[in-house]
Amino acid sequence: MTRRILVTSALPYANGSIHLGHLVEYIQTDIWVRFQKLRGNDCLYFCADDTHGTPVMIRARNEGIAPELLVQRMHEEHQADFKAFSIGFDNYYSTHSEENRILSEEIYCKNRDAGHVQTALVRQAYCNKDAMFLPDRFIRGTCPSCGALDQYGDACESCSATYAPLDLKQAKCALCGEPPVEKSSEHLFFRLSDFEPFLKEWTRSGALQAEMANKLDEWFESGLKNWDISRDAPYFGFEIPDAAGKYFYVWLDAPVGYMASTWNYCKRTGRSFDAYWRPGSTAEVYHFIGKDILYFHTLFWPAMLQGGGFRTPTAVFAHGFLTVNGQKMSKSRGTFINARHYLDHLDPEYLRYYYACKLSGRVDDLDLNLDDFVLRVNADMVGKVVNLASRTAGFIHKQFQGQLCPDYPADGGLYQSFVQAGEEIAAWYEAREYAKAMRAIMALADTANRYIEENAPWSLAKQQKEAELHAVCSVAINLFRVLLTYLAPVLPVMAERTRDLLNLPALTWEGCRLPLCGTTIKPFKHLMARVDPKQVEALLAAARPQELPPQSGEPVSPPPLPSSPPALATIPLESFAQVDLRVARIVQAELVAGADKLLKLNLDLGPLGPRTVFAGIRAAYSPESLTNRLTVVVANLLPRKMKFGLSEGMILAASREDNTDKTALFLLSPDAGAEPGMKIG
Ligand code: 2FM
Ligand code: ZN
Repeated sequence: MTRRILVTSALPYANGSIHLGHLVEYIQTDIWVRFQKLRGNDCLYFCADDTHGTPVMIRARNEGIAPELLVQRMHEEHQADFKAFSIGFDNYYSTHSEENRILSEEIYCKNRDAGHVQTALVRQAYCNKDAMFLPDRFIRGTCPSCGALDQYGDACESCSATYAPLDLKQAKCALCGEPPVEKSSEHLFFRLSDFEPFLKEWTRSGALQAEMANKLDEWFESGLKNWDISRDAPYFGFEIPDAAGKYFYVWLDAPVGYMASTWNYCKRTGRSFDAYWRPGSTAEVYHFIGKDILYFHTLFWPAMLQGGGFRTPTAVFAHGFLTVNGQKMSKSRGTFINARHYLDHLDPEYLRYYYACKLSGRVDDLDLNLDDFVLRVNADMVGKVVNLASRTAGFIHKQFQGQLCPDYPADGGLYQSFVQAGEEIAAWYEAREYAKAMRAIMALADTANRYIEENAPWSLAKQQKEAELHAVCSVAINLFRVLLTYLAPVLPVMAERTRDLLNLPALTWEGCRLPLCGTTIKPFKHLMARVDPKQVEALLAAARPQELPPQSGEPVSPPPLPSSPPALATIPLESFAQVDLRVARIVQAELVAGADKLLKLNLDLGPLGPRTVFAGIRAAYSPESLTNRLTVVVANLLPRKMKFGLSEGMILAASREDNTDKTALFLLSPDAGAEPGMKIG
């Protein structure tokens, strides 16, 4: 019977870019959804941007734009990244939507009317200057435990102590630097403890992995605490219906975004929202999440749904964190890699395959070891899989007009064994044991390669043994088709190229039970290139912060001082304040035909988008040396029309006043850690 399945991944925050850590989850979920679809199940995949909360509000304020605009821009950026990695959402929506407001209110009001919401006074840090309560992350000060400077308001990164924000010594508002005061305000609390019996039962219903159920038992033992679901204005979010000036805390409406995305999709496609989310729904509902947000998804969320009159999820699947080369992703080590950085250098299908090789159904962390990544992709994808087709499809095309044998040749039971292995592989996919599925598929690939080695089509061709050559290549192409069907959830692009090569309407699990006979294939085209370790090096170089100035101990000769300081024309501060200086990343630099002094620079100004600038620095810099380097750009100059195109800004470089040495040009760069778009001044 066809299963009706609804799947979600956690909603990414709208205040940041997608990085390789996020992608573990989106790739894990996407593989599962593609697998279900390939098996013929009615499976839908929903997600959205998580848009509300203080960080989005503050970032928009810093950029001088409305939060709605920031949210819109990030929505586009996230969608482009997901598309490039073939994350095939059926709907990608936003928590800042009418559907989400209506559903959040419904869930809140039902819970409130049933007595599951209460009020209490909360004492909190407040900044008089910014006229707002400060979330923990917006307070910085000295750790009360170890004395480390400049720590956040909730925990010390140096000694791991946790504390209340007002316990910090010399606490300061992270926005304006003023010391915060203590102020109380009335908050709304969701009475999680009312749901303890229900949650205990839900935990035992098979909805959770064993490790997670154990964690929940610990939480039950230490007692369920009521949950603060309101925040005071100013806050970017939904105002609470009966509490003017109070807003739903972002974590209340975030998971409701799963439902809002479903509703939005159902309206668009004529499907029934109720059939997924109202009680009595027979659909399966699964949430894929990271282990850090377990509490929200296994306690608050099912309780809110239960109290709100909706059904609860069938299961929640948690995964571990990503490490790169064995360590936490880190900006200073150059291993904090954004989706965009990766896409600038490497094929997304490499990462999909590598993650699949490392993923299990458990909550373990996953290591992206970059040397292993290169070896694994090249050995398996190129060496074992692509080779099958590249060594045999050419013969079919050249010598047999592209036609496979009209009757399936004797292959010693090989094809049948491939079909049979499909059931085990399907079971691994279903259980999210992708590493095991990949191992089983690569074992089949080894068998297929052995078959080709043993039957050496290239010798058959030389010996003009046409019938045998036709048979061997037809078998190989058929085995290749089964392999690519099994790999299709992981490698949608390569699977699509294979479908095209084989002239098939679709690759389906069911469809490859029978071999292709007498059909015509197209000429072999490129399926996947080898990874060059240089591409990985370039990626790391791009992610690495710019070099720091020489440390003490390294001699630097000071420039000769002019005999008398030159007179400078002075300007009022207001004039300088009009110049908008920003950090920019040079995405690419190229020579300009007909202009021997100029380089054309494609700049990334982060949130401000891409820019093209023509700069007279050709004498001092080769285009290659500039790729991915950070620099400083005047971002609000009127664009200037030049012979070669429009220049949309100006980059800053130091040069000698007398300008005698044209190569004495020194591009300005911010220190390590700066990000494109940051304001300078
Ligand atoms: O942790 C996060 O990144 C959250 N934005 C996840 C939200 S998941 C869901 F509940 F919305
Ligand atoms: Zn402040």
